[in-house]
Amino acid sequence: PDAAAQTRNIIADMTHLEGPLLPMLHAVQAAFGHVPQEALPVIADTLNISNAEIHGVVSFYHDFRRAPAGRHVLKLCRAEACQSMGSEAVAAKLTALLGVRSGETSPDQAVTIEPVYCLGLCSCAPAALLDGEPIGRLDDERIVAIVERVRP
Ligand code: FES
Repeated sequence: PDAAAQTRNIIADMTHLEGPLLPMLHAVQAAFGHVPQEALPVIADTLNISNAEIHGVVSFYHDFRRAPAGRHVLKLCRAEACQSMGSEAVAAKLTALLGVRSGETSPDQAVTIEPVYCLGLCSCAPAALLDGEPIGRLDDERIVAIVERVRP
């Protein structure tokens, strides 16, 4: 089935929810691994909102991915506590070493790097999540370890 039809099924029994837009987008992302372009007009139609509005929401929330992720997903915390501990420099090193910009997937599909805004690991700043596993106190050694795991 195409993505639009699948989206229709996924959101069919969610219309009664209060504030259904975000739960719908999360459900679609859980099913596809990202929010496909074709899903947006289906949801917009169902909720009677404009395409511009739904695009705005999807791009505002960093949780929603517009394209399939790479085999590894590296989330780098860019919030305040991590920033004060050098997260910008960590991000610059990792994006350079992995050859992919923040918010993008490498051309070989090895890794997606995404910014996040606080992982609740502020006491171990600067912090990251690699495939869901928390990694704190990112120093050069841990940065290299991440690169080796992503590109063995
Ligand atoms: Fe980075 Fe809280 S600010 S984990």
